Amino acid sequence: MRFFAAIAFMAATALTPALAARPIGFAEQAPAGGALVVALASEAELASRGESIDAATREAIARALRSAEFDYAPGSSMTLRGVGPWSQLVVVGTGAEPLDAAALQDIGGTAAAETSGNDGPVALLAKGLAPSTADAAVQLGVGASLGGYSFDRYRYADPAKKRAPGKVAPLTIVTADAGAAKARFEREGEPLAEAVAFVRDLISEPANAVYPESFVARTREAFAGVGGVEIEVLDVAAMERLGLGSILSVGKGSARPPRMMIVHYRGQGAPAAPIVLAGKGITFDSGGISLKPGNGMWEMKTDMSGAAAVVGTALSLAKAGAPVNVVAIAALAENMPGGSASRPGDVVKAGNGKTIEIINTDAEGRLVLADALSLAEARYDPAAIIDIATLTGSVVGALGAEYAGLLSRHDALADQLLAAGDATGEDVWRLPLHPSYAKDVKSDIADIKNSGTGAPGAGYGAHFIGFFVDPATPWAHLDIAGTAWNDAAEPTVPQGAAGYGVRLLDRFVRDFRPVPRGEGKGGY
Ligand code: BES
Ligand code: MN
Ligand code: ZN
Repeated sequence: MRFFAAIAFMAATALTPALAARPIGFAEQAPAGGALVVALASEAELASRGESIDAATREAIARALRSAEFDYAPGSSMTLRGVGPWSQLVVVGTGAEPLDAAALQDIGGTAAAETSGNDGPVALLAKGLAPSTADAAVQLGVGASLGGYSFDRYRYADPAKKRAPGKVAPLTIVTADAGAAKARFEREGEPLAEAVAFVRDLISEPANAVYPESFVARTREAFAGVGGVEIEVLDVAAMERLGLGSILSVGKGSARPPRMMIVHYRGQGAPAAPIVLAGKGITFDSGGISLKPGNGMWEMKTDMSGAAAVVGTALSLAKAGAPVNVVAIAALAENMPGGSASRPGDVVKAGNGKTIEIINTDAEGRLVLADALSLAEARYDPAAIIDIATLTGSVVGALGAEYAGLLSRHDALADQLLAAGDATGEDVWRLPLHPSYAKDVKSDIADIKNSGTGAPGAGYGAHFIGFFVDPATPWAHLDIAGTAWNDAAEPTVPQGAAGYGVRLLDRFVRDFRPVPRGEGKGGY
């Protein structure tokens, strides 16, 4: 009997790397062949969710699950080969808790990762997984799209094996009301998943491919044909005219000139006051004259993750036609130790006239953001400003890869970011912004210095950036130095560029409730 030939193995955390992203489809009936994925909380669910599987095969699956002592925990999975008509049969554990959006995305992600080596079509049985079938199917689709991501453009492609982009077999989510699920996925899910993939591509690219001008070019390409969007790019001459001496000082040591890119998306029926999202876009951070050690320096190609996240968020919202008003500012520069680089001790002037003593040229993220936020304050009357940056090693020490650091003077704004983190699974943890940091970054000769003298490095970085924002403006800072790059694969975040921040900020902007202006007192 064929089920005796089944081989089972557990793969709780180890995910096979993906080869190419599959298109996501929806259908009401399970296909008769290919790979099949069943998400289960218990063996008992096999009968209902797996109703399209014949009884003998269901029994074979149940035996394999029992003999492997499969525990159905979230994130667990088991692959069987040689059962029924399927080339591969994957059981994904869901756990017994009700499934929220993030949990559904994880199931989709695990399904995609576990079947990534399979060249044929994949079906995921989703009937009855969550009360709202269309919602659940959309989240599964987003998760499958995110979890199936891989960056393989620089790998040798064996012509015999290569799956041409148009020829990749789809991952089909089997659900009641497939038509409604498909429509909702295309409207809401796909723009988000595509934006995350765009961001991961930008981050994964080496710094000889992505530098300020090419970052701009790729962004223009991604937004081509998307309505309601205006893109403005400030070159060196334009930034000189505006007095953006802080970002210019960071870019000076590189042969690649800096840029300030502003992507404004205004949806139909959007509020008049925009939410400004400003991202640190250091396309490579060598440290400059305060040169970093060589070990691990390559990872500093990811130092533009904040800029990628804000542009990606605008892309997701714009492609979805969300009724929001959002300005994404990408502060782009390469931090290099060339002959015209800034020196430690140099004094520069930001766009709002405040002067900065550069104590350490490796504290460059806050320098580019000082000008981005000065510009935001001068040009817009923002409902809120959020900046996002791979800013400090300090936040990695405090929060590791699990949480982004959140620092804000405005509790009502911070709470909305915490809620968006909960809802999306892109977690944030609030850190203090103590008024005493002001004395630690006091300069002897300028208005502020770019590096403090004590230990709370993430706090100093946030304080410095906040110095360039009107204290009345609702503002929050996200330090993503620990979350931007994933060392080990997770269901919706393959190893490598996480694309962290797009899901978080997309949710935050959609759910935003205006925060009263006024001197922020929170966060201490
Ligand atoms: N880009 C780095 C921060 C970073 C560290 C990002 C590790 C990702 C992983 C940033 O520009 C930096 O160099 N920060 C310094 C600041 C210091 C010189 C005040 C740091 O954190 O050591
Ligand atoms: Mn640095
Ligand atoms: Zn940096």
